Amino acid sequence: MLSVAIIGTGNVGCDLLLKVIASPGLRCELFAGRRSGSPGIALAEQHGIPTSTDGIDAIVAAAGSFDLVFDATSAADARRHWAILEPLGLSMVDLTPANLGQLCVPALNLEACIGERYVGMVTCGGQAAVPMATCFGQATVGLEYLEIVSASAALSVGPATRANMDEYVVTTERATHEFCDVQTNKTMLVINPAEPGTVMRNTIAVAATEAVDMEALQSLTAAMEKRIRAYVPGYRIVMPPVVAGDRILMTIEVEGRGDWLPAYAGNLDIITCAAVTLAEAKAGAIA
Ligand SMILES: NC(=O)c1ccc[n+]([C@@H]2O[C@H](COP(=O)([O-])OP(=O)(O)OC[C@H]3O[C@@H](n4cnc5c(N)ncnc54)[C@H](OP(=O)(O)O)[C@@H]3O)[C@@H](O)[C@H]2O)c1
Repeated sequence: MLSVAIIGTGNVGCDLLLKVIASPGLRCELFAGRRSGSPGIALAEQHGIPTSTDGIDAIVAAAGSFDLVFDATSAADARRHWAILEPLGLSMVDLTPANLGQLCVPALNLEACIGERYVGMVTCGGQAAVPMATCFGQATVGLEYLEIVSASAALSVGPATRANMDEYVVTTERATHEFCDVQTNKTMLVINPAEPGTVMRNTIAVAATEAVDMEALQSLTAAMEKRIRAYVPGYRIVMPPVVAGDRILMTIEVEGRGDWLPAYAGNLDIITCAAVTLAEAKAGAIA
């Protein structure tokens, strides 16, 4: 068992906590926030997990009790937290787009991240779309431009996520650049206020003038879907790559497990499942 702590008791922190509790390889020693009225603190107490509202001070005070801290606060706070935790010898799996160092998308580079002390989990749109973007890169000779548009239900997008829009775009575009063989890329995020909430959707598009081998793209994306479904069961291609007018595009949907928010909030699961997969791999490596 790998002992962990979570800081941040919002949408991402709560969904992550429930997945850590369900993981046979992880044990949550502390769930830290900054507000006693936070529904996340009540959730952790219901599950018998130790809690604190002293934020990073509580993490520092209990630092000997765990090896890894998941950060689910905000990009600015995560940067500050890592500056405090690094000298203490702890590891951090960062679910904010703080964009500090090594980026991890388990379907693409899990092994390379296991030994890293700081790992950023990119963004929800990045976890969902970048693996498919790499398929476009592999199936195209000299891919010039690729676009990612992700849409999440407004009910699942907390205040910290809304404050981190710029960081979301910059980090997703960096991940696309690092993992995908494409000259230029662009990321967009749609926050959909429809009620009931709509399932998280991601569209990846390139111009129809690009030299894409459609047969190779179909088989690469189908294989990638299988790899991701191994750790995010609700991940599915709803529209395989097609030529539509002046574009070649595909659409992916991510349905969540419905742990903290209803199943439409796959934007939580895609990053919390990825973070748990990395932590479990670290636990396995230590064992
Ligand atoms: N929602 C998504 O779809 C999604 C997906 C992937 C990644 N992310 C990223 O994950 C992060 C959290 O997003 P979210 O939607 O969960 O936001 P959220 O619901 O606003 O949650 C953030 C939580 O962190 C707490 N917090 C902030 N600063 C803190 C500090 N210094 N110490 C302790 N607690 C602190 C907040 O406390 P209060 O309750 O007191 O405000 C809140 O409970 C963001 O960086 C976002 O970009 C979000």
